[in-house]
Amino acid sequence: MSLKVDVIVGVQYGDEGKGKVTHHLLKDGDYTHCIRYNGGCNAGHTIYHNGEKFVTHHIPAGVFFGVKSIIGPGCVVDIRKFFAEIKMLDEGGIDIADKIFIAKNAHVIRGAHYKEDKKETKLGTTRTGNGPCYGAKYKRLGVRAEDYRILEPYLIDMYEEFYSSNPDATILCEGAQGFGLDIDWGDYPYVTSSHCTTAGALLNGFPPQSIRRVYGVAKAYETYVGTKEFQPEGEVFRSLQEVGEEFGATTGRKRQCNWINIANLKKATNLNGVTHLIVNKLDVLEEVNTWVAYVNSKDDRAILAFQNKKQFCEYVENYFSDVKVTFSSSPHVI
Ligand code: IMP
Ligand code: MG
Repeated sequence: MSLKVDVIVGVQYGDEGKGKVTHHLLKDGDYTHCIRYNGGCNAGHTIYHNGEKFVTHHIPAGVFFGVKSIIGPGCVVDIRKFFAEIKMLDEGGIDIADKIFIAKNAHVIRGAHYKEDKKETKLGTTRTGNGPCYGAKYKRLGVRAEDYRILEPYLIDMYEEFYSSNPDATILCEGAQGFGLDIDWGDYPYVTSSHCTTAGALLNGFPPQSIRRVYGVAKAYETYVGTKEFQPEGEVFRSLQEVGEEFGATTGRKRQCNWINIANLKKATNLNGVTHLIVNKLDVLEEVNTWVAYVNSKDDRAILAFQNKKQFCEYVENYFSDVKVTFSSSPHVI
């Protein structure tokens, strides 16, 4: 048996541009499957396909390339939004027939979860029912996809698929959110309710030995959406927000902005076993024309200012000399 798994993992607070990287890797890759491994419709992945913009919440980007796309058992699914997304893709000219699946043991977001999340004010959740659904799962009160007849045509058994039918599969695991929002490693309680790490990808049924590459995705600065105080005072951060068009793809909320934190990024690349680091949206810093990074953890925020893009990039490359670093600009090129 030789399952091969590549993982795309957010190494900041989500919205790093994972959708773009997934799309890029699928275009030239040898993948037979694409799996969303955590989260639900709290995620919003912006994808430019043949010049057209698509925002997906549930369905993995494999579907754009005819690659079998599975919503994994680490995910939670809003059935109404799942079908709305299928319709959106179909109307957008994407060939979805026999390409979209949901793991039998993924959990379903129910009306009560949605209602509960609508009342949430402390954390600033996306109010899509994700937290309460995972809560129910862990209280062992949840309902799984296999319990819904309407989902029957989409159901897949992960064990059968990968250990019986396709033991030589090459799989791209597409993460949602990011390390800073991870339930265990993020800034608790200002986190999401799922495992956003490489380990979270394995929880979907893959052996550790199957991992080939781990693509950590970051931006050249940081953004975070939620109630935690994150953005410092200063006009420059408002510029970052404006130039970077930092609005949530799911909720339309403003994303708070700050400089990149290299120490936090190191922690994220270490813990996730990142082999390839992609730093997106370099063009935004270029336009704002300020090249800054925090070089210590957040309790001792030493700031390093660079003269120009070249210096900034060289610093990052040297700091992460053990991984392959790629810089990229918005929106579609890598
Ligand atoms: P929840 O996942 O809706 O429970 O939200 C918990 C926290 O995670 C909030 O701060 C959200 O803004 C944040 N969050 C959840 N999903 C995303 C995402 O896809 N991008 C960025 N932030 C997210
Ligand atoms: Mg997003």
